[in-house]
Amino acid sequence: MSNKIADNMNDRLTKRMSRNIYIGGTMFSILLLVGLTLDTVRQTPKRENRADLTHEVAKGKQVWEKNNCVGCHTILGEGAYYAPELGNVFIRRGNSDKEAFKSYFAGWMAAQPLNEAGRRKMPQFNLNEDEINNLAEFLIWTSKIDTNNWPPNVEG
Ligand code: HEC
Repeated sequence: MSNKIADNMNDRLTKRMSRNIYIGGTMFSILLLVGLTLDTVRQTPKRENRADLTHEVAKGKQVWEKNNCVGCHTILGEGAYYAPELGNVFIRRGNSDKEAFKSYFAGWMAAQPLNEAGRRKMPQFNLNEDEINNLAEFLIWTSKIDTNNWPPNVEG
């Protein structure tokens, strides 16, 4: 009985049909890929907060890289899971207020390491005023990237 079903299926799927499925499927996948790629390229400029991409933000990114903040932190989900996500730290600790965030951030950087028992430690980086300010600008800019409200939790 089951052999008979298999035979019937072989009869029905002709060489021509399988070739059409192969070509049709390939064409469909290629068109889908091209369509989604064009959509991404079209959407990105609207979401990346380009207007606020100042010289200070770019310099802040360099300080971020040079000091390997991402070796402990994540930023928009990328990086290490030792320390808190910083893509939304402007909203979390600065309440989306630029001056409030900058003074919080300068204070935080100056206070490290906290040396509190049971708390993970962040090193002291001894950054100067400009570097701290540029880092803050970088974190403010990052928090304004349209990520579809990710992360969903302001604490993470
Ligand atoms: C060796 C690991 C490590 C590195 C490298 C590191 N951090 Fe941290 N960071 C931590 C830890 C751990 C905490 C949480 C500490 C706590 O809550 O007491 C933290 C917390 C923070 C916070 C506060 C986050 C919040 O939600 O309150 C900020 C801001 C911050 N780090 C910025 C930076 C910046 C900027 C750099 C790079 C210059 C950096 N960190 C590099 C370990 C690190």
